[in-house]
Amino acid sequence: MTKRVLLIIAGGIAAYKSLDVIRRLREREIGVRCILTNAGSQFVTPLSVASLSGDKVFTELFSLTDEAEMGHIKLSRDADLVVVAPATADLLGKMANGLADDLATTALLATDKPVLIAPAMNPEMWAHPATKRNVEQLMRDGIHVVGPNEGEMACGEIGLGRMAEPDEIVQAICRHLQSSLGPLAGKRAIVTSGPTIEAIDPVRFLSNHSSGKQGHAVAEALHKAGVDVTLVSGPVREPAPNVDKVVEISSAVEMLQACEQALPVDIVVCVAAVADWRPADQQAQKLKKQAGEEPPSIRFVENPDILKTLAGLDSARPQLVIGFAAETENIEQNAERKLQTKGCDWVVANNVSAEQNTFGGVHNEVMLFRRGNRVEAWPKLTKQAVADQLVRRIAEHFDQRRDTDTAP
Ligand code: C5P
Repeated sequence: MTKRVLLIIAGGIAAYKSLDVIRRLREREIGVRCILTNAGSQFVTPLSVASLSGDKVFTELFSLTDEAEMGHIKLSRDADLVVVAPATADLLGKMANGLADDLATTALLATDKPVLIAPAMNPEMWAHPATKRNVEQLMRDGIHVVGPNEGEMACGEIGLGRMAEPDEIVQAICRHLQSSLGPLAGKRAIVTSGPTIEAIDPVRFLSNHSSGKQGHAVAEALHKAGVDVTLVSGPVREPAPNVDKVVEISSAVEMLQACEQALPVDIVVCVAAVADWRPADQQAQKLKKQAGEEPPSIRFVENPDILKTLAGLDSARPQLVIGFAAETENIEQNAERKLQTKGCDWVVANNVSAEQNTFGGVHNEVMLFRRGNRVEAWPKLTKQAVADQLVRRIAEHFDQRRDTDTAP
């Protein structure tokens, strides 16, 4: 999965080197989104930054367009790492004191991601007790620092204060991105979501109430954990989540084909509400109501079971295959049976009886059944929280495997 950096370019002559940092990160397929401070834009133009990063450049806190499109909080959290290069004495002072009077400082205060700074300033300014205090405070706050180096400054003075070279900064960024990788980093997953629709004729179909909310949330939570996710989704109103690939399908047969094309993967989570049957004969023309005639009878044939098919693969079976079981009664018995009949490893069972308002609703109350493990009943949570909790369990599962695999 693509890693992303939010690069804040403050006002220093070293800002020109940040352009090279962007270029080198892009060469490594690391996504770069930039904030350019007012002072920064005196040294490099928004156009050069946008061209190199291949993305919009953010400059002002009170830009209605930027806020409508992104929002400064989201901007600060969308990346895996926030990098400040060059980090000027002024910006370090603001960061150390928690000031937030422009987009850069506000994003730095709002972020929940690690922050790496590359200070750049005149040697006297770097050696000043105020700067030293600020840098010490920032290090106590967990901020990471690369450089500065000793050398000749743009002002002609020689000493400590020259911004680290682009190569060093990029290496420091890669080290941080690497260490932020959890047990799921680099794994691949298929998530199915939404309903399928099974055509009767060109205008009529058979479908169900699935909104795709839970499946989409699982896909996005896996993606956030570093998994390369292919989401195979039936028609839903939900906006496409932030994942690596979305394949939109209509029928169960198409869903299975799309899943097979996305193989091999490590993880499969089948959340889709797949129609069990489809009309045996799909009419080429719209069925016509004829006066005095009986309504037509529709003969059904069974759809492929995607979960069962993927769980039963002989070669390249995904390591972890998870099904969702929507039940209106006997949840536990049905979930246990599904583990057996479908051959999957885990079943997340939920009650979709009318009073639960699960379909299209924001909440879900589920139980997790894992082979050979205690059953877990989770409280009523948002679908997002169910997805996060499930991904935590998946991460624990792979973490244990990693320990076992590396045990002497
Ligand atoms: O059999 P049932 O529909 O209750 O099983 C639910 C689980 O099986 C879900 O994970 C669903 O996505 C999956 N399923 C499937 N293909 C089908 C039917 C169900 O993948 N044809």
